[in-house]
Amino acid sequence: MSQATYHFPRGFLWGTATAAYQVEGNNINSNWYAWEQKPGKIINSDKAGLACDWWNGRWREDFRRAAEGAQNAHRMSVEWSRIQPAPDRWDEEALNRYVEMVRGLAELNMTPLITLHHYSDPQWFVDIGGWENEMAAGYFEKYVRKVVYALKDYVNLWCTLNEPNGYAAQGFVVGAFPPGKKDFNLGFKVMVNLVRAHAAAYHAIHQLQSEARVGIANYYRSLQPAKPWFPLDGLVTYLLRTLNNIFPSASKDGVVRFITRHMRVPEAKGTQDFLGIDYYTRDYVSFNLMSSELFSRRFYRPEAERSTTGFLANEPAGMYEALKWGLNYNLPIIITENGFDDAEDRVRPRYMVEHLHQVWRAVNFNWPVKGYFHWTLVDNFEWERGWSQRFGLWELDLDTQARHKRPSADLYAEICRENGISDDMVRRYAPTAIPALFPE
Ligand code: FCB
Repeated sequence: MSQATYHFPRGFLWGTATAAYQVEGNNINSNWYAWEQKPGKIINSDKAGLACDWWNGRWREDFRRAAEGAQNAHRMSVEWSRIQPAPDRWDEEALNRYVEMVRGLAELNMTPLITLHHYSDPQWFVDIGGWENEMAAGYFEKYVRKVVYALKDYVNLWCTLNEPNGYAAQGFVVGAFPPGKKDFNLGFKVMVNLVRAHAAAYHAIHQLQSEARVGIANYYRSLQPAKPWFPLDGLVTYLLRTLNNIFPSASKDGVVRFITRHMRVPEAKGTQDFLGIDYYTRDYVSFNLMSSELFSRRFYRPEAERSTTGFLANEPAGMYEALKWGLNYNLPIIITENGFDDAEDRVRPRYMVEHLHQVWRAVNFNWPVKGYFHWTLVDNFEWERGWSQRFGLWELDLDTQARHKRPSADLYAEICRENGISDDMVRRYAPTAIPALFPE
């Protein structure tokens, strides 16, 4: 018998998030496909291959898994390189498959949230300069119109770009994503073009669908100075934090600001109807003269629990901080991603309830948080980290395509069904979280 339950508001969206390239398989016209073929770009030379085989129809069984797990929403993306495999060619058959998928969600009473750009680009687009090209926004807008026109009977929640700050930084400043460049000025240029593309998409979507709700999945990284009393730690932390703000603030006031640079993009003003937040973890930051990364070194709190590959630390307080930050934009908030790579499902149940507890705190102050999407439904291809990371509620056996349910899938199903977290659930799935969540 439950003693206590943290309830969420009626109509709260509960789902998982996925991305086309990571789950569909055989996206051969995408720049990521070309990137995978280059030596040394992906851990263990992994390939996406068939991925979760959604393109051959396995989305059906996975959507059913989600629905049986009481999820009432799903965030997925559509792949530009499938819909427009060449600049002068639209693939209607591919578009129809996406129509089938969103219809499939509707039949399961799940609300779709569709991401129009989740990291991957058509190779032809990259060949003409990609996001460095001044015309990028125009190309993107054409594609967006095509998709929205086709899917609008089933979809009214749209996410134009996934983590554009991360995309630009990884691809053009850090170099871990294609095209693998390391040039701060180029990074800024790409961000400006992405803001323009977002704005163009926002206006186009509203023209085609007046009831549309459009946002960006903003990557929010919690950053704390390692020594709060040391001014230089504070300064580099402040500078790094500007990366969190670029896209939401540009779409609020039409100015792109990145450290020392700024650029006006007036058409971007007022172009978010909701604020998507992807929150995973928190870093501590110290000033370091030897570092090429803005004179800073980032590290995890030594006591914080790590994910299997050490990629993430379990820092639930950062979720609350992210939501508080989100309030600045005066918009409804959707947590568009949150999750933990944990092949053995050792920490994930605790990570999940501790993060959701922070979300619950926020909704109880009446902060406008409307939904939560866990990353992810089934293990998928994790970009340059290949198959080394396992984020799924369901485990994927790549050789057989078999899915095996992790305990977290059952825990999440109970949470979704209850629209809340009870002490009884926490006792059964994540007993070590009891003292923090349900103190005596
Ligand atoms: C996010 C990405 C998503 C996935 C998770 C683990 O930053 O949006 O595609 O790779 O990280």
